[in-house]
Amino acid sequence: MPDLSVELFGIRFKNPVWTASGTFGYGLEAQELYDISQLGAVVTKGISLKPRQGNEPPRIVETPCGMLNSIGLQNPGVEKFLTDIYPKIENVDTNFIVNVFGETEEEYLEVCLALESAGKIVAYELNVSCPNVKRGGMLFGHDPSLLGSLVSRIKGKVRKPVLVKLSPNVTDITEFARICVDNGADGLVLINTLLGMRIDVRRGKPFLARGMGGLSGPALLPVAVRMIWQVYEKLGDRVPLIGVGGISTWEDALEHIFAGACAVQVGTANFFDPFAPLKILKGLRSYMEEKGTERFSELVGRAHS
Ligand SMILES: Cc1cc2nc3c(=O)[nH]c(=O)nc-3n(C[C@H](O)[C@H](O)[C@H](O)COP(=O)(O)O)c2cc1C
Repeated sequence: MPDLSVELFGIRFKNPVWTASGTFGYGLEAQELYDISQLGAVVTKGISLKPRQGNEPPRIVETPCGMLNSIGLQNPGVEKFLTDIYPKIENVDTNFIVNVFGETEEEYLEVCLALESAGKIVAYELNVSCPNVKRGGMLFGHDPSLLGSLVSRIKGKVRKPVLVKLSPNVTDITEFARICVDNGADGLVLINTLLGMRIDVRRGKPFLARGMGGLSGPALLPVAVRMIWQVYEKLGDRVPLIGVGGISTWEDALEHIFAGACAVQVGTANFFDPFAPLKILKGLRSYMEEKGTERFSELVGRAHS
């Protein structure tokens, strides 16, 4: 049997197939369909300090090969997460990573600090790339000095590993990746959604109440693979890269991995096939068996050599 386990930022993951923030809730709905402890990790919906209602509907629209969303980080807030949701996931036998969002540096920090003693949460994924909120989010991800300051502040105060989820809506993602690593990030997650818009020609208005939204799904695959490739070329193995964007099949996942991803997250595919993460895991295992690959790490970055 090939070994699909991965050790990243000092944490052992049973396999490299994780779910992407905002597309899998907290894993509770999927748990009714299958045993989610088969996954390498579950990344939660973005959690903020205070509860957020999210944006006005409509906030989702289909696109060719994907979808646009402008959910606006609807979530119950970190306190309610800890009292109402955390007890339900505490005994699930896999790692949980909390996707953290704040409007200010202080808010990001407070959310992380509130989660420090929650043993099931193995790492934080800082969402500095949400295109669907007025304050915070992308503001940090698009300003090199705000980004550097946020990462080093959080790193200086928390014990758990800090991953940064990067925005693709920048000219040169490698520059933002470097800033995160220089300021102590333990891992990089790329990419978040690509800013987009659709217009309803019957009404002569944008489909989404907020106008713009984030594009996700299969359309994103080549953009995400290109960005992982570029960041891997620039930073090599200075820090683990987690690939997300357009992954629906094991072959898509392998593109991310060959480009340099040490693990992958499955997002929008969960909406059209809730079993996609398991199928991807099975496909990767069969591929390794067929090729006689003993360790998953042998596959990472292979297309660069
Ligand atoms: C409905 C929806 C909600 C999302 N919510 C979040 C979120 O709360 N935090 C975050 O960092 N990314 C969020 N994302 C982005 C995904 O985690 C992922 O980065 C993106 O969708 C690209 O992957 P995919 O093409 O596999 O969906 C969301 C995406 C969708 C479609």
